[in-house]
Amino acid sequence: MTEPRTVDAKETFRRVKRHFSPALAVAGKFTGQGAVEASAEGCRVTLSDGRSLLDFGSYAVALLGHRNPVVADAVRAQLDVMPASTRSVQTPVAPLAAERLAEYVGGGLGRVYFGCGGADAVEVSVKLARMATGRTTVIAVDGAFHGKTLGALALTDNPRFRAGLEPLLQGVVRVSPDDPEAVAKAVREHDVAAVVFEPVQAENGVRILDSAVLAQWCRDAHEHGAFVIADEIQVGLRRCGARSVALADGLDVDCVLLGKPLGGGVLPVSAAVGNDRLFAPLLADPMVHTATFSGHPLSTAVIPVALDLIERHAEDGERIAAAMEQGLATLREQHPDAVVDTRGRGLLWGIDFRSPELAGDVLTGLAQHGMVVSPCLSRPTTIRLLPPIVATEADVKEAMTLLTDATAGAATGA
Ligand SMILES: Cc1ncc(COP(=O)(O)O)c(C=O)c1O
Repeated sequence: MTEPRTVDAKETFRRVKRHFSPALAVAGKFTGQGAVEASAEGCRVTLSDGRSLLDFGSYAVALLGHRNPVVADAVRAQLDVMPASTRSVQTPVAPLAAERLAEYVGGGLGRVYFGCGGADAVEVSVKLARMATGRTTVIAVDGAFHGKTLGALALTDNPRFRAGLEPLLQGVVRVSPDDPEAVAKAVREHDVAAVVFEPVQAENGVRILDSAVLAQWCRDAHEHGAFVIADEIQVGLRRCGARSVALADGLDVDCVLLGKPLGGGVLPVSAAVGNDRLFAPLLADPMVHTATFSGHPLSTAVIPVALDLIERHAEDGERIAAAMEQGLATLREQHPDAVVDTRGRGLLWGIDFRSPELAGDVLTGLAQHGMVVSPCLSRPTTIRLLPPIVATEADVKEAMTLLTDATAGAATGA
């Protein structure tokens, strides 16, 4: 066991201010009350001032908790043999991860491209759809979040992130998630390459899209020869109960995008898992989309282990989901003036507060009293709870107590 490093919070914030952004330093200081992250294990993060926080946030990455020992062992084992690839000679690690991932996802999706972050997976799927069809239009949904790289941002529906960058990638048509005829209408007017949707829009305040509408979109897209891409970077891998939400809901999709917990909460890795038809351009010429770190052995070595662990905890996830639902219903009953709505699926829950200020106060109150949650990037009135699948009943109980206290405190201005 190595000694924990001494962490200098003050110096950290000076560096953040000097080399990243002053606003980031202020926000970080406020949330951590002057402390920074020191170490983490399971559902808990220890701060530089010795406090411990329950982590029900981490933007959905820590599904298996922090530093899961089985994942960490897989990283160490790969580190000891060959963490990087020559990219000239073939690594055996990424193909094994691809085989396991394709089996895991199912749905006849046998082709895999590995990226480092979620937006990488979005980029490749849209590129492939455009190349495979020779068409340019991509249909994206009102309120969507698909990342912030230039291509992915063209699909992301948030003026704050798009400001100063228009025109972005041309040919994106936006549709309402409430309109089952939206894709049928769009394909009559445009040459559509793909429809891209999140089955649950996590950043948009945990909005669950109607699977009957999505099924209609899939039918209409396929009739027109367009592809259907399910962005499950945040909601797949049992975050919302299923391995793939779209496939579990019986949707005929050509590609599922995964990321966040795919690296076991330790390494950054994402994947586009699709069918031969979508991947045809890469089958014809594998050089049309490459990246130095695509299929990086250290990152992809953890994928089979992470998938096994997620499956081992699948039933625990169901129990936590039920406890979360019940706990949040109680919160709503106790604080009807502050809490407008709660909704979610599996291990992803959103709480709507009366105002963005109230949501902000609850968020900071929680951090002060011992819990990290995530805000919603596109809906400031909603805070997001992302319990790890390895959380215990005691963790959920503690989360609910902290949430009730933080809500009461914020509602009374305490
Ligand atoms: C649905 C969805 N797609 C894409 C992304 C982008 O992922 P990343 O931030 O890793 O690029 C996110 C990130 O939150 C996401 O939730």
